[in-house]
Amino acid sequence: MKRKIIFLLILFLLSGVSGFCAFAADEIPKITYDLCSVNTGWNGTSANGQAILLPDGRYATAFRAALSEQSGSAQLGVRYQVNLSGIGWLHEAEGGRKTGFSGGIAPIEAIRISLYNSDASKYDVYYSVYQNQAWTAWTKNGETAGTEGKGLQVEGVRARIVPAGSAAPSEHIVDPDAPMVALTFDDGPRAQTTARVLDALEAAGGRATFFMVGKNAAKAENAAVIQRMTEMGCALGNHTYDHVDLKKTAEADAKKQIQKTSDAVKAAGGSPTTLLRPPYGSTDAQTKKIAGALGYPVILWNVDTLDWKTKNTANTVKTILDNVQDGDIILMHDIYEQTAEAAEQVIPELVRRGYQLVTVPEMAAARGISLAPGSAYGKIKANR
Ligand code: NI
Repeated sequence: MKRKIIFLLILFLLSGVSGFCAFAADEIPKITYDLCSVNTGWNGTSANGQAILLPDGRYATAFRAALSEQSGSAQLGVRYQVNLSGIGWLHEAEGGRKTGFSGGIAPIEAIRISLYNSDASKYDVYYSVYQNQAWTAWTKNGETAGTEGKGLQVEGVRARIVPAGSAAPSEHIVDPDAPMVALTFDDGPRAQTTARVLDALEAAGGRATFFMVGKNAAKAENAAVIQRMTEMGCALGNHTYDHVDLKKTAEADAKKQIQKTSDAVKAAGGSPTTLLRPPYGSTDAQTKKIAGALGYPVILWNVDTLDWKTKNTANTVKTILDNVQDGDIILMHDIYEQTAEAAEQVIPELVRRGYQLVTVPEMAAARGISLAPGSAYGKIKANR
């Protein structure tokens, strides 16, 4: 009897151990990378598709990459090469060693990254660089990212390893293990100021969530920014048609307010609104019931910039940068010049500080939270 128990115990342990090994071998290795720029030095490592974007006016002169979180059994290495302005392609480097000149001034114009060793055929490495105010298309496995010989400098980089044959990463990679914030903008759209917010987001490779007022979405002059939000992968939210206090609105009228807004956004060429933010954050059991019936989760916030009240750029910037934490939902209003200006300052700074700028649904998905219609959400904490 005793022997049988020991035998079963050994069997159990063996199955447990072999199960663990199989899991580790399935794990996709992560690539880490860093850029060095004149005066500011190494930026700080990013990984797994998360963008490095150098501060304004800076460009890269050296690059390094390595693999992390690799299972013990994987036989994989990473090699990389940079093209320096006026010099051309340097020799390949590997294993975290720098290539280019950390004290030099010649800008990197292009980068190539490839995998080697016996497991290299199991994976593709995708990468792209930020150049001429935009991300280049994803390239892979030793192809050139960037333009050689045109004097265009590399100002950012992102890279990711995927199983061989996988599609190129979407433009919207979210690393669930890295910090993220959801910027949210209410009361718009307003063509000119919303476009400035979108410009800043696009330049930083970020997205945001826009809770639109239906009557603004219905204005012909605002159709272009709504289409752009959709193309950029921003989340389109509903803030009622006339900015009404839903707690003081009869059920049938409240539903009309939400429905009409969704219709206006769609008519403007936007994707249907999928999230509700009640004006004034005014929400009760009835509001949630209505939201639930129409399929909307109710999205509140946990950092209030009070931008509508102060109309002060510096104040809005300070409120965000002094308070920002992983998982925050930050409230702003994209109808004010001062907020557009604050967004232009704060968006690149948040990226520099290592935050991913994601939509509310992206943040929820990355944190393992499903946004349930009729439930209200503020800060999104990890559900692990
Ligand atoms: Ni509002």
